[in-house]
Amino acid sequence: MTRKFHVIGNWKLHHFMEDSRKLARAVLDGSRQYLDSMVVGVSPVHTTLWAVHGELSDRPENFWLVGQNAYHENEGAFTGAVSYRHLKDAGCDGAIVGHSERRRIFRESDDEIMAQLESAIRAQLHVIYCIGETGEEREAGKTLDVIERQLGEALRHVPPSGRQAIKFIVAYEPVWAIGTGVNATPEQAQEVHAAIREIIAGRWTSEEADRVPILYGGSLKPSNAREIFSMPDVDGGLVGGASLKADTFLDLVRIASEVAGK
Ligand code: 13P
Repeated sequence: MTRKFHVIGNWKLHHFMEDSRKLARAVLDGSRQYLDSMVVGVSPVHTTLWAVHGELSDRPENFWLVGQNAYHENEGAFTGAVSYRHLKDAGCDGAIVGHSERRRIFRESDDEIMAQLESAIRAQLHVIYCIGETGEEREAGKTLDVIERQLGEALRHVPPSGRQAIKFIVAYEPVWAIGTGVNATPEQAQEVHAAIREIIAGRWTSEEADRVPILYGGSLKPSNAREIFSMPDVDGGLVGGASLKADTFLDLVRIASEVAGK
């Protein structure tokens, strides 16, 4: 297996400074034993990034500080914005791009998200690019069309040089499974993950497709992770709610490490 497992905690808009530092420290200490063979990451609120970066100053290469999202411009008259360059400057190793909460709640367009993707790559951040269908789209049988559209577009925006220089990671997050307690079944996840790998192989090469980690996200928890992580094209998880407490998140990291040799 050429791909490493990745388990990344997306804290969304949770935790203030002190709790963020404590949680990041606990996650680093608790996952250190697994970091030879997998990548673990935490993604705190922007204002806490620099402090968390300081707290994690002894982190090895496979432990990532991840920025949640940013605006595509690097600098200028954009009140309230944060750029990918600023995320890098605050110590981030990677960034999430295209999360459905950005698409839906903040009404970010496909064009804006593509500009963000390019900007994150130029800032030399590992990119965790999120895609996924809504419940309505799934019911209408459009899941794979949505995946093809969201992913195909993104693959065109990753320059060939970027494929080596950065890590491009896909997170399949069905919108209907995010924060709902209803996860995709392992079979549903595998079907989409396999389709994602095929799309990458078609646009890039099959060797490159083989190397791209594809993470599942949506109501992941210790009780459902083993089955989902065991699927051949699932290479870890992007975790929301279950990443907010060290014990639960470290359970997921441990399960991933046990399944990684599948
Ligand atoms: P939950 O794990 O809370 O469903 O959130 C998933 C998610 O959106 C991670 O980015």
